[in-house]
Amino acid sequence: MSTGLTLSFVPLAQQGAGPVLAVLAGKSGLAPELTQRLGAAPAKRLSEAMSAENFKGKTGAALALPAETGFGEKPTHVVIIGVDSDDEESRPGFVRLGGQVYSKLPKGRDASVLLITPKGPFSPEDSADFALGMKLAAYKFDRYITKKKPDENGEVAKSVLLHVADPVAARRAMKTREAIYGGVEIARDLVNEPPNVLTPVEFAARAEKLEKLGVEIEILDEKTMKKLGMRALLGVGQGSEQESRLVIMKWMGAKNEKAQPIAFVGKGVVFDTGGISIKPAAGMEDMKGDMAGAAAVVGLMHALASRKAKANVIGAIGLVENMPDGKAQRPGDIVKSMSGQTIEIINTDAEGRLVLADVLWHVKQKFNPAFMVNLATLTGAIMVALGQEHAGLFSNNDELAERLFKSGKATGEKLWRMPLGAEYDKQIDSKVADMKNTGGRFGGSITAAQFLQRYVDGCPWAHLDIAGTAMGSPQTDINKGWSSGFGVRLLDRLVADFYEG
Ligand code: BES
Ligand code: MN
Ligand code: ZN
Repeated sequence: MSTGLTLSFVPLAQQGAGPVLAVLAGKSGLAPELTQRLGAAPAKRLSEAMSAENFKGKTGAALALPAETGFGEKPTHVVIIGVDSDDEESRPGFVRLGGQVYSKLPKGRDASVLLITPKGPFSPEDSADFALGMKLAAYKFDRYITKKKPDENGEVAKSVLLHVADPVAARRAMKTREAIYGGVEIARDLVNEPPNVLTPVEFAARAEKLEKLGVEIEILDEKTMKKLGMRALLGVGQGSEQESRLVIMKWMGAKNEKAQPIAFVGKGVVFDTGGISIKPAAGMEDMKGDMAGAAAVVGLMHALASRKAKANVIGAIGLVENMPDGKAQRPGDIVKSMSGQTIEIINTDAEGRLVLADVLWHVKQKFNPAFMVNLATLTGAIMVALGQEHAGLFSNNDELAERLFKSGKATGEKLWRMPLGAEYDKQIDSKVADMKNTGGRFGGSITAAQFLQRYVDGCPWAHLDIAGTAMGSPQTDINKGWSSGFGVRLLDRLVADFYEG
């Protein structure tokens, strides 16, 4: 969905437009340059109001004043917004700041924001990050609300001018942020879509839209997957009326189109009832979000292709619906995966790993990538371990894990490394097959990761368990909805910082 928000960069000196003028204040008050910009008398009046109200410029604080006289631009009111926080200097500081300021602007009105603090004017990169934060905060999913509120008392500022020192450079820096925002928006939309609309076939059709950005798309139907022997993936979907799909997306942006690619793999269970091991009714509607891993991969491919990333990247998503039915898979079934390894199904609700097993194996065999990173809303147990602040990071490769961890810190999409090991691996040994699909009560997220590791064939690999971070997400300065789009900004950063150029 669009944000309803139009942002433009204009010079600091340019007259503001619209009824609202927003200025940023730090501990020491307003930037000295603002005296000239606003006029001595108005600047003095703002300073006086700040001391009268004991306003210290703290992040999250805002002071709105009527602007009767003296302002050249004649706003009807001025908002002083505090930006004094410890990490305002570092990204994701500026992204978050954009979200914070957005929430302090009066709703439904055009506004001008002067991007200058006592520490100086925002750099072009910081200005673009700030704008990205505003857009992320303005996102909402209202496609299915037929009675929308009228604009006057609606929820979004319509057009916002961002006054910056160097608008040309800020606009240039904004190009990559537009690409990233577009990717997050796609991921959020996909996760928010209801499961009667977003079937595997419809999901594949949405991914196919990336073709217009130069992404090559291959869609494997059930017949093709059967030929390839993907019985682990197909077994999950066999109880559904909806056909399963596997979508491969290729963005070959590196100088050498033949250079070894990197790969991202997503779990796309468009709805997870649990199957025959059916879930309790309470909260089951949330399982429409069990495709957030696949959504993040599509969003990531959009971002990379839109900003023409200089990297060869494969995206692969396994799309199935997990339903109970006369044809559904049973606990006790033994299925043969594409790798040849057999799996005893203990619990049909541990389905994500079955889908990923075949997709990971296929991607490794077909593309021999330098690494594979998979994203999956894989276990409830990861929320017990880490809450909703960190996604679980499991990896067989310390360098890849470290790079992911750093990208998490840089974007605020935080990861926490979890262990793997032979002792945990034993928990999924089976008496009647090569392995079973659950590992007992303890360490549920770890045994799930051990299962996946058996399908990566020695490839450097990381698994991100995003069950707690991608859906039912905690509200933050830059996420006001149910789905955060977790993973898009993180992995775009991983590619940009470590695998381009
Ligand atoms: N999709 C769920 C995991 C999940 C739970 C995601 C809550 C988001 C929010 C997954 O398929 C699942 O059902 N996992 C089971 C595994 C168990 C049966 C071994 C779980 O976590 O209970
Ligand atoms: Mn499940
Ligand atoms: Zn699931």
